[in-house]
Amino acid sequence: MAEPKGEAFRVVHETKPEQTYRGAVVGCGRMGSTIDDEHIGMPHYPWPWAHAPAMIEARGVDLIAAADVDQAKLEDFKRRWGTEAIYTNYREMVEKEQPDIVCLTTRPDPRAEVTIGLAESGVKAIYATKPMCRTLAEADAMIDACHKHGVVLAIACHLNWYNWYTNARQVIADGVIGDLRSMICHSPSTLSNLHSHTLALFRLFAEAPAQWVFGVMDSEERAAGDSDLSGSGYIVYENGVRAIMNTQAETSGHNWTLEFIGDKGRIVSRNAHAQFELWSTHPETDNPIQCQFPNPWYPRSSMVDAIEGVCRSIEAGEELICPGEFGREALEIAIGLRESHRRGNVRVDLPLEDRNLRMG
Ligand SMILES: NC(=O)c1ccc[n+]([C@@H]2O[C@H](COP(=O)([O-])OP(=O)(O)OC[C@H]3O[C@@H](n4cnc5c(N)ncnc54)[C@H](O)[C@@H]3O)[C@@H](O)[C@H]2O)c1
Repeated sequence: MAEPKGEAFRVVHETKPEQTYRGAVVGCGRMGSTIDDEHIGMPHYPWPWAHAPAMIEARGVDLIAAADVDQAKLEDFKRRWGTEAIYTNYREMVEKEQPDIVCLTTRPDPRAEVTIGLAESGVKAIYATKPMCRTLAEADAMIDACHKHGVVLAIACHLNWYNWYTNARQVIADGVIGDLRSMICHSPSTLSNLHSHTLALFRLFAEAPAQWVFGVMDSEERAAGDSDLSGSGYIVYENGVRAIMNTQAETSGHNWTLEFIGDKGRIVSRNAHAQFELWSTHPETDNPIQCQFPNPWYPRSSMVDAIEGVCRSIEAGEELICPGEFGREALEIAIGLRESHRRGNVRVDLPLEDRNLRMG
C-alpha cells in the first residue's frame, strides 16, 4: 500500500488492527445488543453504542457467536445481527466457537464468574462492561485470572477511547494547558454505575493511581447500605493531581460536565460530551484565551474505537487505555468515598484493606 499522505488518512490507517479476530458477545440484552434503540437526547454522539453492532463495524474482528442464559434474548440477537452460533452456556460457546475476543455485557453480578471462566478457557481478550463487578475481592480475582492466563482484560468505559478525549489528552501532552493539576466532574448520578466512566477517564488523564479520598454522601440510609449512591468527594492521585466529584442527586437536571484544569489553561467537556472548550494562556499577555479545540479527524463511535483498541492490545500484549486495574480503581474510589462518609468524612487511604466491601 502506498505511504499514507493526509493526516486523516494516517489516523484511519494507523488504528487498524493487523489481524482479524473471532468475536463473541456474552449477555445479549441492552448493552450487548439493543441499546441503540434508546438513542434519545444525544444527537451529537457517534453510534453504535451496543457491543454487537460495534463489533460488526469495527475493523479487525468478526462477530461469530453469542451466549445468553435467556433463549428469547438469543433469538432476538440472531434476528438482529445474523449470528447463527447462539448458546445458552458461554463455556460451551467458547469450546465450540473458539472466539478470540469476548464482549462481556451481563449485569455486574455474574461478571467475575464469567470473566474467570473465559480467562481459563483460553480467549485472548475480554472486553467487559461497567461497573466491573460488585466487590473488590471479585475485581482482584478477575485481574489475577487474566494475568495468570495471559488474557487482555479491558473495561468498557468507552469514553477512554472517545476521540475527543484522546485529543484532549494530546492537548495536555503538548503543554497547551500546562501541567494537569485537577479534574472536576459535575453530574447527578450514582458513583459506581455512571461514574465508573468518569473515574476510569480521570485515571487515564491523571496518569497515576488514586492514593486517598474523602466523601460526603447524600443519604445516611444509602451510605449505611451496599446499594450504589450519589454524593460528593475528593480524590488525590499519587502524583498530586486532584479530582472533585459532584454527583449530588439534588443537582438533577444538570448535565454531565467534566473539566481538566492545568496551570496554564483548561479543557471543559459539557452536556455529556457534546461541547469541548479549550482555554490556554496568551503567550504575550498571560491572559486566558479560548482556542479552537482540536476536533477529531475521524469522529467515530467510541465503542467501535474501543473494540479496535482491544484488538491492538492483543497485538501489543497489554491494555493501556482502560485495563482491569482502572475498572477496579473506579469501584474502589466509589466504595472509598462511601467508607469516608461512614467513618465521619475522614481521609481514606487506597487500596482499601477490606476486600469484601461491595457496592451495587
Ligand atoms: N457503557 C454504557 O454506556 C452502558 C450503558 C448501559 C448499560 N451498561 C452496563 O451493561 C451491563 C448490562 O446492562 P443491561 O442494561 O444491558 O442489562 P440486561 O439485563 O438488558 O442484559 C444483560 C443480559 O445478560 C444475560 N445474562 C445474565 N447472566 C448471564 C450469564 N451467566 N451468561 C450469559 N448471559 C447472561 C441476561 O439474560 C441479559 O440478557 C450493566 O453492567 C450496565 O451497567 C453500560
